[in-house]
Amino acid sequence: MATKNNRMNYCAFCGRSQNQVPELIKGPDVNICSDCVMMCNQIMGEDQSAQAKASGQTKDGGGTPVDVTKLKVPLPHELNARLDDYIVGQTHAKKVLSVAVYNHYKRLRQGLRFENDADYRDIEIEKSNILLVGPTGCGKTLLARTLARCLDVPFSISDATTLTEAGYVGEDVENILLRLIQAADGDVARAETGIIYIDEIDKVGRKTENVSLTRDVSGEGVQQALLKILEGTVANVSPHGGRKHPQQEYIRINTDKILFICGGAFVGLDDIVRRRLSRQVLGFSGATAEQRNDELSPAIEPEDLLHYGLLPEFVGRLPVVSTLNSLNENDLVRVLTEPKNAMVRQYQKLMAMENVKLSFTRDAIRELARLAARKKTGARGLRTLIEHVMLDVMFEVPRRRNLTTFKVTRKMVCDQAMQTADDSKAA
Ligand SMILES: Nc1ncnc2c1ncn2[C@@H]1O[C@H](COP(=O)(O)OP(=O)(O)OP(=O)(O)O)[C@@H](O)[C@H]1O
Ligand SMILES: [Mg+2]
Repeated sequence: MATKNNRMNYCAFCGRSQNQVPELIKGPDVNICSDCVMMCNQIMGEDQSAQAKASGQTKDGGGTPVDVTKLKVPLPHELNARLDDYIVGQTHAKKVLSVAVYNHYKRLRQGLRFENDADYRDIEIEKSNILLVGPTGCGKTLLARTLARCLDVPFSISDATTLTEAGYVGEDVENILLRLIQAADGDVARAETGIIYIDEIDKVGRKTENVSLTRDVSGEGVQQALLKILEGTVANVSPHGGRKHPQQEYIRINTDKILFICGGAFVGLDDIVRRRLSRQVLGFSGATAEQRNDELSPAIEPEDLLHYGLLPEFVGRLPVVSTLNSLNENDLVRVLTEPKNAMVRQYQKLMAMENVKLSFTRDAIRELARLAARKKTGARGLRTLIEHVMLDVMFEVPRRRNLTTFKVTRKMVCDQAMQTADDSKAA
């Protein structure tokens, strides 16, 4: 105990006691004096400038400059094919993303390509951030996750729902940059060439009903904070996440080259589009309530997004808008069976671990898709349904040692659906 107390009053680096140093900074288990802190700073500064000299470049946030000639650039059709492996339908969104990512790589290489070409040298290719709009369970987040698997640049996914204006409970907007830096293993220079997906962006729409006293800290304030980052700025990121405070050291990161993809369900946007369309055709309804959202979605105009609560400057920074379709019954059949990671395959793998070969009859699959389509929650409904059906199977199979095959039939699906309906009625 005595030694611990002693240690508490000494600098762990130079060994001097509290009385011999200008200031002793105390940590939970160890202390450091202000002289040693200064010396460390000096050493780190020398280290960094030596590194920068060696590479002929100085970077604000440190990290080695990216050798863009070594990046593996996937061609748009190749990327599209990778997305096809995992995602059913959504042809337009896949094409938009494939081209956007390809152009992102090209932008990174533009300096090299036209170094000695007076015609193009001074032309700066700007980025085109993307907005993905589509109903729940249609594959927005899945698209982002799948992209992350196929890329050679850092890619991170953040959720806009957790963000609040600086100074309020929640996450600072800069934390989305921290996530990208983490995806680049702390290498800021690499992170500066990355791509960020911001999910649930519709949740930062201005709350119009929020008339007064309470500030709209999770809506407009967040959009304002995002504006600068989307456009390109040098941001100060707190290295451990959380809130910034004045004594802290920051990582400086330039967001100029970072490509932003935002995604959101925008529930109710179709009504806004429908209203605008019917206003445009005076006296006649340009779009009926029965018209499917899919038919309306290509008609989304920036003004609809403004009505939804996005700021004009925010919409302006997302020039490419792609809409994803809701999934119909046929799509849902394909979702169950076709993707590399299809739900049916996942359960087959689970059962294979018990040495049981699991199969579904065609009409069982069709029935699952039909029931899920009725729920109107896209492929999300499928997961719940199949989970219910498989519960009994997964409970029983492990104890039946001699079982080698198991077939899920339409009757099993229907019985389960009826029972779930009864249960919810009783509740
Ligand atoms: N087009 C699709 N192809 C294959 N699977 C899909 C597709 N859409 C959704 N899924 C399945 O449904 C799950 C949920 O989809 P996802 O998370 O992408 O929905 P989302 O569009 O982000 O919805 P939300 O707006 O509710 O977040 C995925 O993990 C995947 O299993
Ligand atoms: Mg999602």
